[in-house]
Amino acid sequence: MSIIKELENDIKRIIDDLGYQLDSFTLEVSKRKDLGDYQINDCMNLAKKYSKNPRVIAEEIKEELEKDNRLKDINIAGPGFINISLSDNFLLKTINSINSDIDKNIDQKEYKKIIIDYGGANVSKALHVGHLRSANLGESLKRLAKRLGYEVISDAHLGDYGRPLGLVILEIKKMYPTLPYFDEAYTGDYSEIALPITNSDLEKIYPVASTKAKEDEKYLEEARIITTKLQNHERGIYDLWKRIMDISKKEIKEVYDSLNVYYDLWEGESDASDYIPELLEIIKEKNVAKQSEGATIIEVKEEDETSPMPPLLLVKSNGSVSYETTDLATILERKKKFNPDEIWYCADGRQQLHFEQVFRATRKANLIDDDVKLEYIGFGTMNSPDGKPFKTRDGGVMPLNSLIELVKEETRKRINYDIVKEDKVEETINDIAVATIKYADFIPYRTTDYIFNPEKFSDVEGKTGPYLLYSTIRMKSLLEKGKEYKQDNYIKINNDTDRDIVLELLELPNILTKSLESKSLNEVADYIYSLTNKYNKFYAENKVLLENDKDLQESWLVLTNTVYNTNLLLLDILGLKVPEKM
Ligand code: ARG
Repeated sequence: MSIIKELENDIKRIIDDLGYQLDSFTLEVSKRKDLGDYQINDCMNLAKKYSKNPRVIAEEIKEELEKDNRLKDINIAGPGFINISLSDNFLLKTINSINSDIDKNIDQKEYKKIIIDYGGANVSKALHVGHLRSANLGESLKRLAKRLGYEVISDAHLGDYGRPLGLVILEIKKMYPTLPYFDEAYTGDYSEIALPITNSDLEKIYPVASTKAKEDEKYLEEARIITTKLQNHERGIYDLWKRIMDISKKEIKEVYDSLNVYYDLWEGESDASDYIPELLEIIKEKNVAKQSEGATIIEVKEEDETSPMPPLLLVKSNGSVSYETTDLATILERKKKFNPDEIWYCADGRQQLHFEQVFRATRKANLIDDDVKLEYIGFGTMNSPDGKPFKTRDGGVMPLNSLIELVKEETRKRINYDIVKEDKVEETINDIAVATIKYADFIPYRTTDYIFNPEKFSDVEGKTGPYLLYSTIRMKSLLEKGKEYKQDNYIKINNDTDRDIVLELLELPNILTKSLESKSLNEVADYIYSLTNKYNKFYAENKVLLENDKDLQESWLVLTNTVYNTNLLLLDILGLKVPEKM
């Protein structure tokens, strides 16, 4: 348990022992620092509950709190607010213990097994900026949840099975009709066939096929037939699909790697297909589906519901299954393979209805135990400085790679080529560009749309990723230069600048807990900025290495080390890599 939580628990016990019941207790950081570090606001509520004067209750609590030597300057203000401060001795001890073990500043949660489904790249289609937030958010929630004690399994859940793949295969057939994949008489080994297609060809093929399908009903019908063949694992079509998968997955993996996004599982919609017969069996048994115009559907609208809630389309009239069906089958698969306590889905705001339908159908058919939580974690759009979604010059959706390149160009202008080693330049630029994008993405609450201005967010000054990286590198460099001096003990708190840093450090456990609850990284993003700013104020005010008071110098180095380690922890949660130099 974190040291601050321990203190909160003790204060709660003191209040309980006085005969006042509180459901929960947290120390509120004081807005009036001149009155104290924290404020206890509970006396007003207790007064109502116990029909007493709040000041009387406050006096009683104050008297008990005064016996605790972790606290000082306890005073009552207004109708019954209690202001308290932490004693220097307690703060010193706390920093020393956090400095030797950062877990003393984290509240571990009770064990749970979570599957996080994020990224959701589509095979044979270029990743676009919409996939970015899913990858960023999911990856960081994974890191945060793991850090707080959950077991987490991350799954890329590739879109690899539906009509888009049918369209791509059809278009390849039109381009290369003589490929043996399309020759039903072919009995040879498909792996020996040279496929004249690269990943960038694939990315071009899909839009072409998709446009044709919109304009030409016959073409669309052909694609539907191929999709069904694919889903039936028909020889030839299925083998070509596997080749497409290999080509595309390699590229997708490279993009995720460069974003510092990693998966335990690279499953896709197709992997769930093995579970579809069983899924349909269960649904039949539970009698929750019905026939409608040749298709099988599940009604998911609740009786008194007024907003639209279309039925879930389970099996289309041509026999192929929908995106919803693969998600249902995936739930079955995950239950069997991992038996998770919760499944989290990070997908953009437009998929809310989809997940609502899937979750309702899951409950109706009892696919998973009632106490297994299914959570959709949606997010808003990242827009370009003109307020509209990022577009390519010809008006298409901007591929993620192009956005990364755009930011890299900004970064390229700004790194210090005198200090970055030549063989590290590209890696450094990538790390900074990724930090630029990700940090900007985490500042707003996740469901908020925001504007990403590559120039502004690449700046090393301001609330930006590069600022955090730069400041953290500088802390490291100070610690290295100070190696010849003692860095063991936090002995004294010099002034309010130092004290502010210490108090800010104590906020960490709370921030991490809140962020996990809201499933948004904005709290973490604000916090690391605030901590870094406080530290940089200290850095500007003092000359640590030239300090003559050796106790003070040692204290400063310990404080620097604690902030540095905290920043590393937070940057890691945010999925940012710190370069050597920049
Ligand atoms: N591939 C989907 C898309 O690009 C996202 C997948 C989200 N996850 C899921 N289990 N459906 O829109």
